Amino acid sequence: MTPAPSSPAAPTTFEQWQEVYGALPERDAEFVSLSGQPVRPLYTEADLPADREAAIGLPGSFPYTRGVYPSMYRGRLWTMRQFAGFGTAEETNERFRYLLDHGQTGLSTAFDMPSLMGHDSDSPRSLGEVGREGVAIDTTVDMEDLFRGIDLGAVSVSMTINAPAAIMMAYYVVAAERQGVPPEQLGGTIQADILKEYIAQKEWCFPVDPAMRLLGDMIQWCSTEMPRWHPVSISGYHIREAGATAQQELAFTLKDGLTYVEQAIERGLDVDDFAPRLSFFFNAQIDFFEEIAKYRAARRIWAKELRDTYGAKNPKSWLMRFHTQTAGVSLTAQQPLNNITRTAIEALAGVLGGTQSLHTNSYDEALALPTEDAVRIALRTQQIIAHETGATSTIDPLGGSYYVEALTDQMEAAAYDYFRRIDELGGMVEAVKTNFCQREIADASYELQGRIDAGDRIVVGVNRYTEGGDDRTPLLHIDPTLERKQIDRVNAVRAAREGAKVEEALSALRAAADSPSNLMPLLIDAARVHASEGEIIQALQDVWGSYTETPVF
Ligand code: 3HC
Repeated sequence: MTPAPSSPAAPTTFEQWQEVYGALPERDAEFVSLSGQPVRPLYTEADLPADREAAIGLPGSFPYTRGVYPSMYRGRLWTMRQFAGFGTAEETNERFRYLLDHGQTGLSTAFDMPSLMGHDSDSPRSLGEVGREGVAIDTTVDMEDLFRGIDLGAVSVSMTINAPAAIMMAYYVVAAERQGVPPEQLGGTIQADILKEYIAQKEWCFPVDPAMRLLGDMIQWCSTEMPRWHPVSISGYHIREAGATAQQELAFTLKDGLTYVEQAIERGLDVDDFAPRLSFFFNAQIDFFEEIAKYRAARRIWAKELRDTYGAKNPKSWLMRFHTQTAGVSLTAQQPLNNITRTAIEALAGVLGGTQSLHTNSYDEALALPTEDAVRIALRTQQIIAHETGATSTIDPLGGSYYVEALTDQMEAAAYDYFRRIDELGGMVEAVKTNFCQREIADASYELQGRIDAGDRIVVGVNRYTEGGDDRTPLLHIDPTLERKQIDRVNAVRAAREGAKVEEALSALRAAADSPSNLMPLLIDAARVHASEGEIIQALQDVWGSYTETPVF
């Protein structure tokens, strides 16, 4: 038998492999992560953390790198929680029921822009926006209609609203009260993360300090009155959507969270009284491994900071539990069906990263609000990952991967470097007021766009593999008559309520706005007498004023 041709001796050491690899041509591509981090051709055991046990550990054990629960998805799948909302409370109530009927396991409320910005539907500033990108909620009556027929004592509800969050939470408490559900039974989350609004999403109503006070009132009030509620969902999603790198998303989000912890402690709260109900919300972008490492580093940092820096003794305080939404900015208007693939890969990253709750974007959202078919495909994507891929059969399957562990360590180091820089500025509130984070994000966004425009970063269908002739007609399916319908609704509530009681409630809020008292009870009183969101916001702005950003370029 003729001997096999002798091939060069196969490398048996990393150094030998490096020599062999060094002589080989590489294809013409950028081997750089979405966030601009160079990616080496090979990672080995030498890239694992020095103290693996301490750094990686076990699921459900400090520092939770591998997951927050000992059984993770073997015990319970993540909550499939599709963000939804449009039109009036009735239309969104129908969509909520549609999603629950198709297997969704938690609700997530999208509010329209007037509600997000604190304007009533009949305000001139709301013209053309009522019910367009979310549900229009003006008073407690709308909140009752939004959840009509849905047992608020049994369902976990998320509400994505920030500057007016305390008002919407007051509406929700009263709507539940009218279903016979007391606050202590209410499970769910309200976003309320106001620092990320100044950093990224720009949906503010008040100056930074009173806005921080209002969030502190919510955290304090919930710690005694709504123990199952998450009064804040500390969000990196919008920071990332604004153009941040994965490292910036991780660092700024966690630093926001630590700032809320410090504020609550300064109010006299014990960290274990509120930390277990702090929750997080991250983006799932398309660079698969970078995202998984980001979540794993986030859990480890949060656990170490809460236990070792802030002295939390309750292990539940150490848990960084988070919701994930796949990246809206990764969706393309060109060849929109490709977005089903992008969303599936991003969702898988969230799952392999150990998310507790997940929203998958619909493929048509680069064009308009999602159609029902697109939403169903998005939900089915989660169900396929959960039941067909095997990704939920074992916990943290990428744990111990040379590459993923090296990336996790890199993420952690990058976050702490930003923490140091922010501390040197006097903390996150000062960093936000001086636009440090905003400038870092603008620079990162500009750098990435430059790579895309140069063709170094390929976006399929956009700068490579294009087909042209993409139909980008927005699939706007919002009935324009809904705006009129909502305006009639809020006028009817105003006509039926007792005006004197509303004025009394608004006056009490103005009087307390600059006092050290917690405003939540007064907001609930105003909700009970059907004061509108716009009226309450105006009453507080009469005392606090509003906010104007100093833009950075
Ligand atoms: N073993 C033991 N217990 C387990 C378990 C396991 N494997 N898995 C789950 N559980 C338990 C949990 O302990 C929890 O029990 P508890 O209620 O007594 O604490 C219960 O099961 C529910 O599990 P989770 O709390 O992990 O999951 P939830 O879905 O209830 O909560 C969350 C997840 C992240 C903590 C919560 O804050 C949440 O739901 N967040 C969602 C926020 C959201 O939807 N945001 C959307 C924003 S949209 C947006 O802003 C973007 C737009 O602007 C474009």
